Amino acid sequence: MDAIECIVTRASVRKFRPDPVPAEEIKEIVRAAQWTPSYKNCQPWQVVAVSGSRKEELTALLIGLLEQNVPPTPDLPTPREWPEPQNSLIRELMAKRSALAGIDLNAPEFVTRSKKANFRFYGAPCGLFLTHDASLGPWSILDAGMFAQSLMLAAHARGLATVPQAFLTDYAAQVKELLGLSANTRLLLGMSLGYPADAPEAMPPRPERVPLEDVLRFIS
Ligand SMILES: Cc1cc2nc3c(=O)[nH]c(=O)nc-3n(C[C@H](O)[C@H](O)[C@H](O)COP(=O)(O)O)c2cc1C
Repeated sequence: MDAIECIVTRASVRKFRPDPVPAEEIKEIVRAAQWTPSYKNCQPWQVVAVSGSRKEELTALLIGLLEQNVPPTPDLPTPREWPEPQNSLIRELMAKRSALAGIDLNAPEFVTRSKKANFRFYGAPCGLFLTHDASLGPWSILDAGMFAQSLMLAAHARGLATVPQAFLTDYAAQVKELLGLSANTRLLLGMSLGYPADAPEAMPPRPERVPLEDVLRFIS
């Protein structure tokens, strides 16, 4: 698969086989992602890969906090409002998914169900947490975002699937404590990693992209 095909066919996967991902595979994709460009080559990213009983503990912790209605306190604040056109795109995505599922995905009971599925890493055998030092600024968050995409593309190229998950950062302090990370760590993103349960043609349809004209302008 060439680079363009890899970018275009990578999809967020939310159904995994339980088969473990060998540590060598994880090393391979992180080694590749390390070639991501960063501001002054400062490489502001670290990855924690969690599996086995520690991952189960994490799932139990997160579901427990959710069931106790503990308010989420992610290190990167959750957006409360979106400007246009993002607001419409988000509404469109939720409406399409609701129609497909035959339920209102914005209903509180479904939001809880969806969060629990996130906290179970959608059945994936491995969870990845992307972190860096909390004193780093916005450029380093941009760098880490590019690193995350490199990592997902490297995984896809090796037949692995991923889904980036902001929800996995809901209870940042508690996750950091369980993973033994210092309080000065910024928990940027969680991710599920594993082998996809379904062939690409059996997966739910990908969210569409806006027309190219809305994204690209040529000026000369
Ligand atoms: C920063 C970020 C946070 C996300 N958080 C979640 C999440 O918490 N749970 C989830 O299921 N998907 C999450 N996603 C996946 C998006 O919903 C998905 O990327 C988007 O709908 C486009 O679909 P695609 O990845 O298949 O192209 C997140 C994606 C990004 C980039």
